[in-house]
Amino acid sequence: MTVESGARPEAPAGSLVAPEPDERPDLWPWTAKRDASGELTIGGVGAVRLAADFATPAFVVDAADLAGRARVWASAMAEEFWDGYGMSGGDAFYAGKAFLSADVVRSVTGQGMGVDTASLGELVLALRAGVDPARIGLHGNSKSDEEIRLALESGVHRIFIDSAGEVDRIEAIADGLGVRAPVMVRLTCGIHAGGNEYIATAHEDQKFGVSIADGQALDVLRRVRDAEHLDFLGLHSHIGSQILGVEAFVEAARLVIDFAALARERLGIEVGALDLGGGVGIAYTGADPVPTPPVEVARALARIVRDRCGALGLAIPHVSVEPGRSTVGPTTITLYRVGAVKDVSLPGGGTRRYVAVDGGMSDNIRPALYGADYTAVLANRHGKSAPVRCRVVGKHCESGDIVVRDVDLPGDVRTGDLLAVPATGAYGYSMASNYNMATKPGVIAVEDGCARWMIRPQGIEDLLALDEGLG
Ligand code: LLP
Repeated sequence: MTVESGARPEAPAGSLVAPEPDERPDLWPWTAKRDASGELTIGGVGAVRLAADFATPAFVVDAADLAGRARVWASAMAEEFWDGYGMSGGDAFYAGKAFLSADVVRSVTGQGMGVDTASLGELVLALRAGVDPARIGLHGNSKSDEEIRLALESGVHRIFIDSAGEVDRIEAIADGLGVRAPVMVRLTCGIHAGGNEYIATAHEDQKFGVSIADGQALDVLRRVRDAEHLDFLGLHSHIGSQILGVEAFVEAARLVIDFAALARERLGIEVGALDLGGGVGIAYTGADPVPTPPVEVARALARIVRDRCGALGLAIPHVSVEPGRSTVGPTTITLYRVGAVKDVSLPGGGTRRYVAVDGGMSDNIRPALYGADYTAVLANRHGKSAPVRCRVVGKHCESGDIVVRDVDLPGDVRTGDLLAVPATGAYGYSMASNYNMATKPGVIAVEDGCARWMIRPQGIEDLLALDEGLG
């Protein structure tokens, strides 16, 4: 079937044609749309210009969308935990592991979020970008002395204790520096939630936190209470990532509050703050449900905190969350250029069309690592032919190097076309690698018709610079 240039072919029933920005705005950056010619534009900048003036592959961030999502999280928490409602304040810390750059932290903190870091690199970046240390947290299940020392010297807001041994280590480093260490204790509450086994983090048999069930959490709290240089701020729980709906978060909050009551009863400790982690899911394809808006998550948390604390006679604590994916994920697309297009005969008959692009598992490891599904559209034009089932693959030396497992692309997709994959803002760039000596793509910020590098792409020289053998 051939249709007029500029028109969009009808998607047949059961098709895997990606929803366009006007059909599923939640999947795309806020400003994404098609212009009159059928070209995808973001922040008022067309895909063709982005590819020509910058490079492919590239991550393209809608700067206004990022600021907007940060603002929504910060205000949802502030409003739902407003002291006028008898609450004690709420706050949102952006989980920097999802994607960090100086611009990103300035944008999210400018809208009222704090920043949670989980490594020396993330902490140094946040500090150098000028984030107020009083708005920074430090996570990590295997923190180095250097990380703890820098956090304490720079006066970060909170360090999350992840194991019993850390109590003494943080205490000793704080003592050596002559400072007090503000700490929260990360609990394992036994809940199994999350999009994939590797990103569920609060069931018993995994490496994070201290277990409520086996008594370690109570023991760690006792040691924190008795340590001379530790200031106990409160309790933390992060149950996993890419979680849809609010039920699992509410249940985790209930378990944490019950534990706070136990801590008061057994140890005489008042829990002044709760951090209920990140994990709110987003949509990656048209098959995913529209995600729960932050305000609904915040409201559900506020209800359970108010009701459970009330029932147990606990003072309402200050409550924070740490959303990473839901802050940055949908703000960004990856723009690829199509290389080879190949129809492969299948053993059982029929063919599969492989559309190979100029990136792949080095800029998005999520399909290979978690079996994550994405979708894609032709970005430089509308197709002129009826959709054909395609597999979008990368250029790396592995058959598992899949970008989009199944998507219907216009049948005339060809070498040189541009593809846009939505919802790549979280855990794309931050998990990128140099496999096959691929250079990491750059990140372009777009806004109001202007585009600029937020992070420049690596060059081959950047890769070779560390090799002593090349002098
Ligand atoms: N807080 C803590 C303590 C975390 O460990 C994480 C994520 C977050 C907050 C943020 O979670 P989010 O809101 O982004 O779901 N690489 C995986 C995700 C790993 C998440 C690790 N921790 C992925 O690509 O799906």
